[in-house]
Amino acid sequence: MNLSPLQIARYAYKPKLPGMLRNGIKEICVKEGAPTHSVADQDKIKVLFPNTYGKNEITFEKGVNTAPAKKQVVGVILSGGQAPGGHNVVCGLYDALKATNRDNVLLGFKGGPSGLLEDSYIEFTDEFIDSYRNTGGFDIIGSGRTKLETEAQFEVVTEVAKKHGLTAVVIIGGDDSNTNAAVLAEYMAALNTGVQVIGCPKTIDGDLKNEDIEASFGFDTATKTYSELIGNIERDANSAKKYWHFIKVMGRSASHVALECALETQPNICLIGEEVAAKKMTLAEITNTIADAVEKRAANGMNFGVAIIPEGIVEFVPEFGALIAEINELLAGEKTAAFNALPDWDAKYAFIKKGLTADALKVFDMLPAGIQQQLFLERDPHGNVQVSLIESEQLFAQMVGAELARRKAAGTYKGKYATQHHFFGYEGRCAFPSNFDADYCYSLGYNAFMLIQYGYTGYLSKVSNLSRPAEEWVAGGMPITKMMNMERRNGQDKPVIRKALVELDGAPFTYFAAHRDQWAVETCFTYPGAIQYYGPAEVCDLTTRTLALEKA
Ligand code: FBP
Repeated sequence: MNLSPLQIARYAYKPKLPGMLRNGIKEICVKEGAPTHSVADQDKIKVLFPNTYGKNEITFEKGVNTAPAKKQVVGVILSGGQAPGGHNVVCGLYDALKATNRDNVLLGFKGGPSGLLEDSYIEFTDEFIDSYRNTGGFDIIGSGRTKLETEAQFEVVTEVAKKHGLTAVVIIGGDDSNTNAAVLAEYMAALNTGVQVIGCPKTIDGDLKNEDIEASFGFDTATKTYSELIGNIERDANSAKKYWHFIKVMGRSASHVALECALETQPNICLIGEEVAAKKMTLAEITNTIADAVEKRAANGMNFGVAIIPEGIVEFVPEFGALIAEINELLAGEKTAAFNALPDWDAKYAFIKKGLTADALKVFDMLPAGIQQQLFLERDPHGNVQVSLIESEQLFAQMVGAELARRKAAGTYKGKYATQHHFFGYEGRCAFPSNFDADYCYSLGYNAFMLIQYGYTGYLSKVSNLSRPAEEWVAGGMPITKMMNMERRNGQDKPVIRKALVELDGAPFTYFAAHRDQWAVETCFTYPGAIQYYGPAEVCDLTTRTLALEKA
């Protein structure tokens, strides 16, 4: 493999651990805090997790290590979408494990949870680990989206664990994967298998956070990468002064990524799905909000601007949600084949017109033709509309164009409107982790091993006080059941980690809402530039604006 100069330099980077983990394994002791309760539905969750519910909060401190000496054979998997820093979680875990006992073994199961089911693995060595330190990506062992959730799967995992003599499994994943980690931990504990299960909070989406987990790893690097690109586009827009740029950013349903990018770059517009839902905004209202900004800026001679659109926006527009539900119904089961057999779009449109209610058809008819077709053509294996594939940057750019044409005809708008469209997602998921993510991830992995060594199971590796320098970070663990509530999933009540959406009374959104009217009309762009890996701490170790505002 040819290595870039940055990759070679990053191999030598020494991630910063929280102060209490810096004195060597022998100097890490544990302090148990209060027993915990789930965030809601305590009675139900307690019954579902009789062996792992209610355990104590854990903090590590400097002091004599009292963990029993025992050879550890640990398995690790990466689960779900890539997030910068995943390799460092594995490296931190490996370093702590080997620093405790050179005979300890770390197995990496390949391709995500399916690696555990298929017993596809590698044993990590120093040389192999060293070639992934501080790098982006999940290619060290790969990842996957198979869900580990059924009893039959747990039986297979137990067999695989027995075969290798695993003492623990570490699951690096998002809310769903860590929910499943908690269920697996309970299963393993109930059967007295001796296998501990520890989770680590991953996702660029930033929606795995709560009063214990301040941030999921990868959010920092991904949003910095998108913000660099958005800032560059803003500067281009302000130079050429001829385009409105519509930029969709990844992040699934929650708008944390969009909001963080807006705080970093101060665009003219940033839609927030959670606000759209709370205000029950229609497509026309959203379109008008953007068109108003375009019109006001045009009146000041500025026929350019930047609008950030979160990936999940359309799900939050109530009338759009209703339309999607009707379309899913319209093409359920065998009806898809009948629809696909229709000869052309005209015939398909006639079928749609007949099948939709008047309200849904009204919304459908408002959509640009390309989006209409996307709704019917790109469907998941269950026949459902793939909402994340909808090109919402195109949708709003075109709807705003149509609205401006109306305003022009009415004589209220006299500007020029030309658009460019972008989607930033995969660009940020495998970037070299920022110093923050490199340090945070290494600490999460190192800390996960300490939880294993001290015999805990069903815990999420927790590193907090993240808005302060790493020296002041606090390492510990929190029972995953503490973060759970009951939710309806696929027609059943299930215990799940509560997903964090943008809080409209939280500090990041409040700050944004207080400034956005000015940003919409004036040109207040800020240019964050590329992630800096070397240089002064105030530039290189900066965390997100979201975290800074939340912890201010
Ligand atoms: P995770 O929840 O697995 O961390 O997903 C992160 C993410 O990047 C989302 O923002 C995005 O919607 C999704 O993965 C895309 O993944 P895929 O290419 O597998 O559809």
